[in-house]
Amino acid sequence: MKKIVFCFAIAALLLTSYNSVASKEEIVIYLQEKGAEVAPSMYGVFFEEINHAGDGGLYAELVENRSFEELEMPKGYHAEGDRLISSRLCNHTTGESSEWAAKWTTDPVPAWSLKTKNTLAAQMKLTKDRPLFASAPNNLEIVIKDASESVSLVNDGYWGMGIAQGEKYYLRAIVRTSPDYKGTITAKLISEKGDVLASTVIETSIANQWNDFRAVLIPSAKDSKAQLALEFDATGKVWMDYVSLFPEKTFNNRLNGLRKDVAGMIADLNPAFVRWPGGCVVEGISLGNRFEWKETLGDPAARSGQYSLWGYRCSYGFGYYELLQFCEDLNAKAMFVCNVGISCQARTSEASPADQIEYYLDDCLDAIEYALGDVTTEWGTIRAAAGHPAPFPLQYVEIGNENWGDEYDKRFDLFYSAIKEKYPQLTLISNHGMSGIGKIAQTDMIDPHWYVSPDFFFSNTHLFDNYPRDKYTVYVGEYACNNRVGGGNMIAALSEAAFISGMERNGDLVKMTSYAPLLENRNNREWPVNLIWLDTDQVVGRSSYYVQKMASENRPDYNLNSNINMAEPKPATIAPGYFGFGSYSTKVEYKDIKVTQDGKTIDLDGAKFTSERGQWEINNGVLAQTSMQNGTRRLLTGYKGNDYTFEFKARKNRGHEGFLIYFGMAEDGSKGYVFNIGGWKNSRTAVEVIVGGGTAGTLNKTVPYSVETNKWYNIKIIGTAAKTELYVDGKLILEYKAKSAPLQFFSSGYDETTGETILKVVNAADVPYSTKIKLEGAKSVKKAGKVISLTAKSGEEENSFENPKNIYPQESEYKRFGKEFEYEFPSFSYTILRIKTN
Ligand code: AHR
Repeated sequence: MKKIVFCFAIAALLLTSYNSVASKEEIVIYLQEKGAEVAPSMYGVFFEEINHAGDGGLYAELVENRSFEELEMPKGYHAEGDRLISSRLCNHTTGESSEWAAKWTTDPVPAWSLKTKNTLAAQMKLTKDRPLFASAPNNLEIVIKDASESVSLVNDGYWGMGIAQGEKYYLRAIVRTSPDYKGTITAKLISEKGDVLASTVIETSIANQWNDFRAVLIPSAKDSKAQLALEFDATGKVWMDYVSLFPEKTFNNRLNGLRKDVAGMIADLNPAFVRWPGGCVVEGISLGNRFEWKETLGDPAARSGQYSLWGYRCSYGFGYYELLQFCEDLNAKAMFVCNVGISCQARTSEASPADQIEYYLDDCLDAIEYALGDVTTEWGTIRAAAGHPAPFPLQYVEIGNENWGDEYDKRFDLFYSAIKEKYPQLTLISNHGMSGIGKIAQTDMIDPHWYVSPDFFFSNTHLFDNYPRDKYTVYVGEYACNNRVGGGNMIAALSEAAFISGMERNGDLVKMTSYAPLLENRNNREWPVNLIWLDTDQVVGRSSYYVQKMASENRPDYNLNSNINMAEPKPATIAPGYFGFGSYSTKVEYKDIKVTQDGKTIDLDGAKFTSERGQWEINNGVLAQTSMQNGTRRLLTGYKGNDYTFEFKARKNRGHEGFLIYFGMAEDGSKGYVFNIGGWKNSRTAVEVIVGGGTAGTLNKTVPYSVETNKWYNIKIIGTAAKTELYVDGKLILEYKAKSAPLQFFSSGYDETTGETILKVVNAADVPYSTKIKLEGAKSVKKAGKVISLTAKSGEEENSFENPKNIYPQESEYKRFGKEFEYEFPSFSYTILRIKTN
């Protein structure tokens, strides 16, 4: 047994595969040795309008496309079939112009349909005729030509409407009729089977004018797939500007509020803060598509909404006021993310002209004033008029979302100093990740993001250990294990728990975290893995949700120093595989390709290229990739193994990055590794793992190596089962050593209020993990204590709508705690021990 000692240790036991050898282990916790504090702000939530998280999710509105604005496009955009296309815009980092295509619907009036005797009886179309609100100009014109049988305009809700028997639903309909329409309009709640569950007549006493009608509907039965129908019984014309149906019972009984069950799930996480409004929606595909908080205020019927770049329109119903109120209800701080005049850098990357930066800065300052300003200020007055004279708990402002580069840095400095000057009490966050803060003068916090595979989190629990502490702290604003884990499974959750142990141990640096994304309507999984799933009448927490909940509910005040003895890991190997060439947004050439093994050159004459991405051609023995596509790839057969020397020449002809050299690849390109030489806008070089055909995180430290254009480089890769080395022009640039995946992790801390030592242990192996636990320096240890445990039968297991509590924290009493005790942690488990210690 090898003794490994490290402060606030993480137990990293064994293995390349998820098998484990059960052996006697020892964890020693020093109760007299206080480690880093774990800040009360540690666990928060990240909200973005993605996956119908808000509309059709948290926001309680039951009518989809209530304002008929769904097909309103951002300025300058057009639709081609099911694609929404932006105008050509200049990417400010590359200087190149391009358009961006997003998801669009071909439905003529989304969510609404006409039910008639025959198609000629009535027709509907969207118009902008005499809009009631200039900000939401669309309305629906219905022409009824034959009313011998009733004509119904039906709204399906967000994949149905979930309604409860005997409860009140507020109907609001803004309707105009032509003078020749002499009939009535009846609103009916219809069950999935077609029964009428409630109805009311909409009064439209004044023809030719907008009537703002309100009524209460009380369903006679519950239904999870109800519809709202508006029935017309006469010929003539009717225009609908707005139709809304809202439950009376919302979270904390707020008007225009949130679904009780969904908000309740979030409240159960006891979040210290809520980040809003995103995410990429902050930036927009282009600036014309950015999220505009000012448009989210006031009468919901007048809110413009905006196309969410995640494929549908966001109604702006869950607006800034509602967010701030939600924070207050949760006893959480608000985090506002502002736009610095740069659109999403993974999309058009448009930057506003310099003379407009101030406009964006003012917009951000106004948002802060709206939350914090007193009632004498311009925006404080508007807030007070909305019903909240007291300030809201805004504490954090993130300046931009996932922006980077010199232009961002320049703007960040402007925003930072202007905001700090006016609001020194606020914590300001930059978008920088762990590789440094670029050219900015200062920041309070940085915001690294990780969407990765389990291996990444399992092998990066020490990522923060040696990070400098002196200048700023860290907010891990978006992280999730979402690669190779289906819709999210127990291994994903356990890998996050392992990563959390590393973040908690480094609580002096990592002060805030938020899993992302938070919510998913089960009918619209736009993002692969999300924390909470919902339907019209159900909310399901994935295993990751319970990891978040357990970690947050059992946040210690500070860490306790510890040591761990563990078994020697089995040596890991790099799986044999194929080579390949590629590039990222760069034109490249490769030639003089040679593979040798045991001093012999492998004959590549019969070699072929397999899976391809990009535009490839071979001229005079030179393999060229001539497109500017991202992640191009061409794999070479002819040699497969993990013991070789691979040599060739490479030249970059044009573009933003350098070379992608694949190794250890599966034939279909689904998994393997890639040397990304001059990646991240030609700023550095690293090895990335390929999972499911795409890159899934870097495997080692990046090195600051870049590539010049029009220069031939001699590249040599020396591979063995244990490591792969990259040489450029004879110089070793980087090596990647196969690492054993750790499967047991722990952190330990102390809760001063309850006088308990808290141990959080992850066992991601498929066998139980037995260990001795020693509480050094404890005067007394109470035998009986609490165990909270989340377990699954396999790493693939997950909760479902049918079995939402399949993986669910179990609380029990344990009666054999002591200064020294044995404990067996089940396979695939996250366990928290709470031990009363003096
Ligand atoms: O969480 C989903 C997206 O991931 C966010 O919008 C963005 O910030 C990140 O790229």
